[in-house]
Amino acid sequence: MSVYNSVPPKINQIYLIKWLKENYSILSNKSISLKNLNSERDKNFLVNTNTKQKYVLKISNPEESKKILDLQDYVLDNLAKRTSLNQYIPKKIHSSIKIYSDLINRKCFVRLLTYINGKMYASVRHNGFLEESLGMLLGNLSKELQNLIQPSAFRKFEWDPSNISWVIKEVSMFKGKNKELIINNLNEHNLFVKKNLKKLRFSLTHGDANNYNLVVKKNKVLGLLDYGDMLYAPTINDLAVSLSYALMNKNDLYSTLKNIIISYHKIFAITLDEIFSLMSLVKARLIITVVMAEKQRKKFPDNAYLSISENDAWKLLYKLNYINPYLLIFLIRDFCGYPISKNYKSVNIFLKKNNFSSVLDNSLNQINKSIISFASNSIFTRNYSHKPISLTKTINAHLKNNDSEIGIGLYKEKRNVYQGKNYISQLNNKTRRDIHIGIDIFAKAGTNIRAPLDGKVFILKDNAFEYDYGPTIILEHKINNLDKFYTIYGHLSKKCLKILHVGKKIKKGEVIAEIGNYHINGNWPPHLHFQISLDMMGEKENFPGVSENILLHLWSKISPDPNLILGIPNSFFKKNESVKNLLLKRNSLISKSLSISYQKPLHILESKNQYFYDDKGREYLDCVNNISHVGHSHHKIHAAMVEQNLKLNTNTRYLYKIINDYSRKLLNKFPKKLDTVFFVCTGSEANDLAYRIAQNYTKSTDVLVMDNAYHGHTNTLIDLSPYKFNNKGGLGKKSYVHIAAMPDGLRGKWKYLEKGWINKYISQVKITVDAIYKNNKTLSCFFVESILGCGGQIILPPNYLKEVFKIIRKKNALCIVDEVQTGFGRVGNYFWGFEEHGIIPDIVTLGKPMGNGHPIAAVVTTKKIANKFNNGMEYFNSFGGNPVSCSIGNAVLDVIESEKLQKHAKITGDYFIKSLNKIKSKYPKYISEVRGRGLFLGIDLINNKYNYPNEKLATLIINKMRQRGILLSTDGPYHNVIKIKPPMTFNKDNVDLVCSELNNIFKKL
Ligand SMILES: Cc1ncc(COP(=O)(O)O)c(C=O)c1O
Repeated sequence: MSVYNSVPPKINQIYLIKWLKENYSILSNKSISLKNLNSERDKNFLVNTNTKQKYVLKISNPEESKKILDLQDYVLDNLAKRTSLNQYIPKKIHSSIKIYSDLINRKCFVRLLTYINGKMYASVRHNGFLEESLGMLLGNLSKELQNLIQPSAFRKFEWDPSNISWVIKEVSMFKGKNKELIINNLNEHNLFVKKNLKKLRFSLTHGDANNYNLVVKKNKVLGLLDYGDMLYAPTINDLAVSLSYALMNKNDLYSTLKNIIISYHKIFAITLDEIFSLMSLVKARLIITVVMAEKQRKKFPDNAYLSISENDAWKLLYKLNYINPYLLIFLIRDFCGYPISKNYKSVNIFLKKNNFSSVLDNSLNQINKSIISFASNSIFTRNYSHKPISLTKTINAHLKNNDSEIGIGLYKEKRNVYQGKNYISQLNNKTRRDIHIGIDIFAKAGTNIRAPLDGKVFILKDNAFEYDYGPTIILEHKINNLDKFYTIYGHLSKKCLKILHVGKKIKKGEVIAEIGNYHINGNWPPHLHFQISLDMMGEKENFPGVSENILLHLWSKISPDPNLILGIPNSFFKKNESVKNLLLKRNSLISKSLSISYQKPLHILESKNQYFYDDKGREYLDCVNNISHVGHSHHKIHAAMVEQNLKLNTNTRYLYKIINDYSRKLLNKFPKKLDTVFFVCTGSEANDLAYRIAQNYTKSTDVLVMDNAYHGHTNTLIDLSPYKFNNKGGLGKKSYVHIAAMPDGLRGKWKYLEKGWINKYISQVKITVDAIYKNNKTLSCFFVESILGCGGQIILPPNYLKEVFKIIRKKNALCIVDEVQTGFGRVGNYFWGFEEHGIIPDIVTLGKPMGNGHPIAAVVTTKKIANKFNNGMEYFNSFGGNPVSCSIGNAVLDVIESEKLQKHAKITGDYFIKSLNKIKSKYPKYISEVRGRGLFLGIDLINNKYNYPNEKLATLIINKMRQRGILLSTDGPYHNVIKIKPPMTFNKDNVDLVCSELNNIFKKL
C-alpha cells in the first residue's frame, strides 16, 4: 500500500503527550500541549511547552518507508552545516527515529524537530522583497543539494512535475474545458519537458517548497519545512514547484516571476535547457495538484488539506494556459541575461547589414511621409471612438495638408485604439497591451505590397475579427542554414488569400498583396501593419502586434524595429519644427543676403554618403556638395575629430606631431617644388593670404584674374572676383585688377571653330599684361582656377595655362592656382586640376573638400616664396592648422586613399559624361555641351540655337529634379549651366538615376 491510500496516523493526544514525556528527555519535566498542523498524509503537531520552547512533532503515515525518513534526517543534518542554509532549516531534536503505535495499532515513525517561528508564505501579503528572498533561498537550496545524495532518493513520486505520464490514466475523471486543459498540458509537457529531460541537471530536490512549507517573517522567507518529498529529480523542479504556488492568486504574474527567477539565477545560474522546461514544470505541478486533489478527495473526504490549493491551481493553470509558452521562455531567458533566442544575434546582424527592397512600388524614401500618431493626445485619436471611415478622412486630409503621400504609424507607440478583452495583458491583468510593435504604412486601399526580401509564405490567414489584422501574410526568411526570421503583413485585401498559398516561394520585390479597406481589414483605416519577428513562437494563424509596457523590452527583441527593413531615416521619427516656422525665425535672425536654394526650401535633417534626408523622410541625391568630399557624415572623419578634440586642441604656437604628419602627407601630393604649407580656415582666407604673399614677393599690387571668376568673400577677394564685382551689388572693376577673357570656345569672343582660337585668348592675356607695364605698373600675380567653376565649369584648353604662365613669369609675377573647388582627386585623372596642364604653379590654394565640411584650408608654395614672406611680421592664425583640423585633414587624405576615391571619380565621371552625351545627342536643341573632368561636370543648356544660353530651362530642370529627389544647381555667367560636383562616393547607379530623370524631363518639354 502507498502513503496515499493509507489514512494518516490516528492519534489520542493524551496518550501521545505521555509517550512523548517518556521518550524525549527534553520534554520529560515540562508541561506540553499539542496543536494540529496540516499534512497531506502524516500527522504533525506543534508542541508547546511551559518554557515557551516549541517543537514540531512529525508522526509519519504508517506506510511511510523508513528509508525516506532516514533520507530526510541525512539532508537536515547536512544542510544545517551549510552557512547559506543553516538558519532556514529545522534542526533535528531526536537522535534516532522512534516508533509510535496509533489508535488502530499501526506502527508510525516519529521525529521531533525545532520549530521555526513565523507565518506561512500562504498567509502573508507578498512583495518584491519577500519574493526575492524566496528566490535566494531556492537558489541556495539547489546549489547545496548538488552535492548530497542517498540511494533512497532515487524513486518514482507522483508529485514530481518532471514525470506526469501517470496523469493520462486519470484524465477521465475530468470533463469539458478542464479535461481539454489537462490534455493540452500533457502534450506541452511532452515537448517542453519529456523530450528535454536528458538535457536537464539532476540532483537531490526538496520537492515541495510550497506556500505552506515556507516560513516568513518581516518580508523575508526564514524557513523551509517538510523534507518528506525529497527525491532525485531535475534540479530546476524546486524552482518550478515553488513558482507554481507563489504565482497563485497573483494579478501580476510578471513581477513574481521576475523577482523569484532573477534572484534564484543570481545564486544558482539556470541553464538554457532548464529555462526551456521551467514553465511547463510549473504547469505540470499544477496539473498534479488538481489531479491529486480530485483523487484524494474521493478517498479521504475529511482531509481538507488535500484540496487546499486546488481552486487556486485551476485558476493559475487557466491563466498560464493563455500565455504563449515561448513567450515565457523568451522572458525568462531575458531575465537571466541570455539572448532571448538562438537566432537573436544572427538576425540582428543580418538586419543591420542587408539592403532590402521597398514594401511599396516606390522606395519609401522617395515618397514624402508624415507621422500618423495614434497616441492618446494625437489629433487622430483624441476622444477616440472606433469610426474607421471618419478616421480615414482625417488621415487623408492630414496627409494632403502636409504634402505627403503616405502616413507612418510608429513602432513602440502607446496607443489608445486597442479595445476589447483580447488586449488585457495575460501577465498582469491590470495592464493592457497597447504599445504598437510594428510600423504602419497608411496608404490607399489597393496599394501594392511587395516582399522586401526573398522568403516563403509561412502563414496566410484571414483573421477576420474586429480590431484584428483581417487578411494576414507572414513570410519566413532563411538567413543561413540554421537561422530564419519572419515578416508580418496585416490589414491586407482578400486578394492575397487567392494568389498565395502556404509554402509558396516569394522573390524580393515581388507583389504579395495589396492594402485592404476597412470593411475587411479588421475595421481600420487602410494601412499595412508591418512587423518583424525572430520567432513564430508556435503560432499558426496570427501573431501579436502590440505589447504591454512590462513586456516591451522583451517584445522589442522578439519584434525589432521594422525600420531596420523599411530604412526610413531615423531623423524623420523625431519631432521637427515646421519649414514655415524655421523660415520665419531665420528671416528674423539672419541676414537675407544669405540665399536659400530652391523655390520650395529644403529642411534637411540628416545625411549619409551622397544622400540627404529631409523632414518628410525623403531621400535626396546630393549632386552638388563637393565639400562633403568623401561622403556626408563619414564615420572615420568624425572619429578623427572626436579623438583629437578629446585630447588636445590648441594653436600653432605649440609643438604637436599631427601638424607635421599631415603637412608631410599633404605636400607629398604636390610636385617637389611646392614644399611649404600655411594652414588657414577657408578658401577665402587661403586666397587672401596667397595674394598677400604674392604682393610681398613681387612688391606689386596689380593682379590678373579670369573673367567670371570667384575667389572668395573677403573685401580684397570680392575685388578679385568679376563674378561678384561685375554683378548685382558689385562696384565694378578696380584699376589694379585686370581681366583675362575666359577661353570659352562655345560662347566666348573666339570660338572652337575659329582657327587658332586658343592662341587668341593667350594673346589677349599678353596684351593685357603688357598694357599694365605700359602704364608703369607691375603685376603681382595671376589667379586662376584649374576648371572655371563660376565661369560655367569651363575646361581650360590645351596649352593655354602653359603659355599664360610663361607670359606672367616673364614679368616675375606669380602664378596662383585656386584648387578650392577642384582639388583632392575630384578630377579623376589627377589629384589636382592643374596637373592636366603640365604646369607647376608658384602658389596653390586649397579649401572646401580638405576637411570634408570642417573649416580647414591651405596655401601651398615654395620655400623661396614662403621665406620671403617671413619678413618679421608674424603670421598668426587662431584656428588655422590646429590639431583637430589637422587630424581631420589627415583622415580625409586617408579615406581618399583607402576608398580609392580618385579612381572612382575617374570611372564614375567618365560614365557620367558618356551617359549625359547620350542625352545630348537625343536633345541637341537643349544641350550644347557636356563638359568636365571626373566628378566636376557641367551641362550647358541652350534654347534651340547653338549657343543661346537657356537660364529658364536650367532653373526649371533643377526644380523638377528636386521634386524627383535629386539636388543640382546652376552656374555660369548666364546661369544656364547645370553644375555637378557630388560627394566622391557618387556611383554609377546614381548616374543612371540622374540621367533617367533628366531624360524624363526632356521628353516632356
Ligand atoms: C574657386 C573658389 N575659390 C575660393 C572660394 C572661397 O572659399 P570659402 O567659401 O571657403 O571662403 C570659393 C567658394 O566657393 C571658390 O569656389
